[in-house]
Amino acid sequence: MHFSTLGSRYRARWAVIASAGLMACAAPAPPDETATDPDRRDLHSYANADAVRVTHLELDLDVSFDDRTLAGSAMLSFDRLDTDAGSLVVDTRDLDIDGVEAWSPNGGFEATTYVLGEADAVLGAPLRIELPPAATRVRVTYRTRPEATALQWLGAEQTAGGQHPFLFTQSQAIHARSWIPLQDSPGVRVTYGARLRTPPGLRAVMSAANDPDAAADGDYRLDMRQPIPSYLIALAVGNLSFAPLGPRAGVYAEPSVVEAAADEFADTEAMIAATERLYGPYRWDRYDLLVLPPSFPFGGMENPRLTFATPTILAGDRSLVSLVAHELAHSWSGNLVTNATWRDFWLNEGVTTYIERRIVEEVFGTRRAEMEAVLGRDVLLAELDRLDDADEVLRVDLAGRDPDEGMTQVPYEKGALLLRHLEERTGRARFDEFLRGYFDHFAFRSITTADFVAYVRRHLLDADPAGAEPVALEAWIDGPGLPADAPRPESDAFGEVERQLAAWTDGTQRAGDIETAAWTTQEWLHFLSAASSDLSADRMAALDDAFGLTVSGNAEIAHQWLLAAIRAGYRRADDRLEQYLLDIGRRKLIAPLYEALAATPAGRDRALAIYRRARPGYHPISVDAIDAILRWDDRDPG
Ligand code: BES
Ligand code: ZN
Repeated sequence: MHFSTLGSRYRARWAVIASAGLMACAAPAPPDETATDPDRRDLHSYANADAVRVTHLELDLDVSFDDRTLAGSAMLSFDRLDTDAGSLVVDTRDLDIDGVEAWSPNGGFEATTYVLGEADAVLGAPLRIELPPAATRVRVTYRTRPEATALQWLGAEQTAGGQHPFLFTQSQAIHARSWIPLQDSPGVRVTYGARLRTPPGLRAVMSAANDPDAAADGDYRLDMRQPIPSYLIALAVGNLSFAPLGPRAGVYAEPSVVEAAADEFADTEAMIAATERLYGPYRWDRYDLLVLPPSFPFGGMENPRLTFATPTILAGDRSLVSLVAHELAHSWSGNLVTNATWRDFWLNEGVTTYIERRIVEEVFGTRRAEMEAVLGRDVLLAELDRLDDADEVLRVDLAGRDPDEGMTQVPYEKGALLLRHLEERTGRARFDEFLRGYFDHFAFRSITTADFVAYVRRHLLDADPAGAEPVALEAWIDGPGLPADAPRPESDAFGEVERQLAAWTDGTQRAGDIETAAWTTQEWLHFLSAASSDLSADRMAALDDAFGLTVSGNAEIAHQWLLAAIRAGYRRADDRLEQYLLDIGRRKLIAPLYEALAATPAGRDRALAIYRRARPGYHPISVDAIDAILRWDDRDPG
């Protein structure tokens, strides 16, 4: 991802919000010892989960595409950790609350008082519900707004089939509160059930036990019996078909996409089996994928039992499925062992990126895994060039900021390098055993960076019989940049690519003679990024004549190519660029292109002309990023 530059632009905006909203809601006195651990305090939730903790959620919702609302109720069952607690505080954002009832074993439901606090731009508004002494549940009747940040309502024309509308949610990091009133903190886990009514013919699927054989009659009952944090609650509704990938894996997609998706993801069962061999049982029963329309703002989202994925990884040659390995890996790191707060996000993403590479190695071999590790380190180094020191640490300070700002390469690639460093220091066999034990030990719990460090010391480093060289954990976790002894993945395949590039650059070889026949996507990506500093329009034309890169159907290769085209002023790619930006809404692929365009006044004008047409089709998360890049609010009217 190339987000750091966005980060610096965001910063100015968030600075204003900083302390105002966050401090307004002081937490009540902590009742147990976990709450006294300042590391566990979640700055991004108003919930009083230390006093009253929600354990189960029961949704009953009507899905209306006409109004673009979800309307109905959320029933929250809770435990009182503090027996004196007289109220339950949950998070909301832009919800219209119609009423709140409390349920008591003797009295049944009765209306109760509630106060919806003032809304903060980042956090939304706390909803404080008064609890009668015997109450064990509350039921909130509410509806969402069309602009709910977790929801994207797509018109039929934004889908592959063009006939039916589509809805999907994206709850991570703190968007669940924009479609469900709940304790929206990764330190709180709930089981859930849902009754959903949709227009008939459309299918509703969730991060729950989906049944591909259920009649698409518009009335659905879904259950998730394993406790998960709120950011993993997910829903999609659309014209969906299903194709099995094996006994416990399958893929949902629009009918015209499902066959290509099933072919692309044919290795999913092998990935599950490989991960189980390494790290212990897959504990979520089924593993299905859902291919979303192209406006999905991320590559993938690890919603339990149902990974959400962008269609931009359907390359036709299975070359971009490390994303599936990544989202699958979250079934261990993230969904089973969860970051306690968004400061600890690297625990989710760094461990997952490490496991992703191990899965790729198991299923596709060392050559591919090492190419991807080198690409990962390269994007990290580029990111570190742009970031402030404070954002180069793993345990990042997000006080007063939107947690989505923490989504740089650092938690992913620096985190993965730390795990690789631990592996190199202690040996693969011991490290694998350690990680397996870590998942068993912390299964279905949320942990802080300090919990991780203590566990690593105790079960890996201090216990090392050979007394391995010390690991500077503090420098990795709270220091900027990369420690000098950080792993340096190397790829022979890329060495060969660099030799070819050098021969073309010094004129001993013509573009058309570069031997690319055996290149995979990864070699192309490395070639284009290594060549980028001196890709003139003429040199691009030579490559294009030989290899047809402007018409590449691979979204990652096309992205690199279009980026180079903008920088070089290579006009033959103009139409493709425009079409790409109109077709795809994945932030990682489009934001850097807008950013490159915005580097010149003429480029910005061009970007604005395209963006005017593309913006209505983008997800709010991508809109936010690109509005900031193009200074959308300062544009000339027209
Ligand atoms: N959990 C993340 C996506 C995410 C992170 C959404 C933070 C919202 C806030 C997911 O697992 C992820 O990392 N997706 C990556 C792809 C992956 C292969 C690196 C993405 O979408 O780019
Ligand atoms: Zn991830």
